[in-house]
Amino acid sequence: MRLDKLLANMGVGSRKEVKRLIKKKHVTVNGDVVKDPSVHVNPDEDCIKVDETIIHYQKYVYLMMNKPPGYISSTWDRWERTVIDLLEPKYKHFEPFPVGRLDKDTEGLLLLTNDGKLAHELLSPKKGVSKTYYAKVEGKVTEKDVEAFAKGVVLDDGYKTKPGKLDIISSDTISEIELTISEGKFHQVKRMFQAVQKQVIYLQRIRMGELLLDSTLPPGSYRELTEKEEKYCQSLR
Ligand code: URA
Repeated sequence: MRLDKLLANMGVGSRKEVKRLIKKKHVTVNGDVVKDPSVHVNPDEDCIKVDETIIHYQKYVYLMMNKPPGYISSTWDRWERTVIDLLEPKYKHFEPFPVGRLDKDTEGLLLLTNDGKLAHELLSPKKGVSKTYYAKVEGKVTEKDVEAFAKGVVLDDGYKTKPGKLDIISSDTISEIELTISEGKFHQVKRMFQAVQKQVIYLQRIRMGELLLDSTLPPGSYRELTEKEEKYCQSLR
C-alpha cells in the first residue's frame, strides 16, 4: 500500500497534507526518513512514524450507533441528514456505511462498518440473523396478533413473512411490544402491524444477532464494538 494512502486512511491528514508532511521529512519507515509519498509499505511489518508517533494501521472499523430519529441510514443525501453526519472525522475517513436500513423515524441499534463482507453476511437471508424491535403500537395488541405473527402475516404487496416472535409487554390504548424477526423487508415491522390493522407509533431496534443496543449510548452517539462483539461479527464472516 502507498505510504501517503495509508497515512491519509489513518486520519493523519488529507492526501495533500500527508504528501507535504512526507516531503518535509516528518515521516519515517523503519527508522529511515522517506521523502517519496508513493513508496510502498507493508502495514503488517513496517514501523511507520509521523515525528515520534507510531501509526497503527487499521483496515476496518466497526461502530455501534444508537440512531436518533430524523436521520436517514445512508452515506449521503442531497437534502437529509445522514447517520454518517454524526461521525467524527477520525471515523469518517474509514468510509463506513450502515449495515441495513432503519427508517428516518426509527431509533436504535445501527452497525456502521467499512467491512463489506461482514455487512453482506449480517444481511444475508441465508444467515437469517434475527433482529429484535421494541415498539409502541396504537390499540390493544392481543394473543391473536401473537398467533398471526407466529404463522407469518401477508404484507400489502402479497408477501407472506416468515414467522415472527411477538412479545406483549403491555396492552392498552397504546401497547408496548417486542418483535423478533429474521428478515428485513422494507418497513417490515410497520407493515406487519398494518397487516393486523394496527399502527406502529414508535420503533426502536434493540438487537441484531448477538449485538445488543448499549443502553448507555444516548441517541446520536456511538462507540467501537467491544472485542467480544467484534469476535461475534467475525464469526459470521
Ligand atoms: N421495520 C420497519 O418498519 N422500520 C424500520 O426502520 C425497521 C424495521
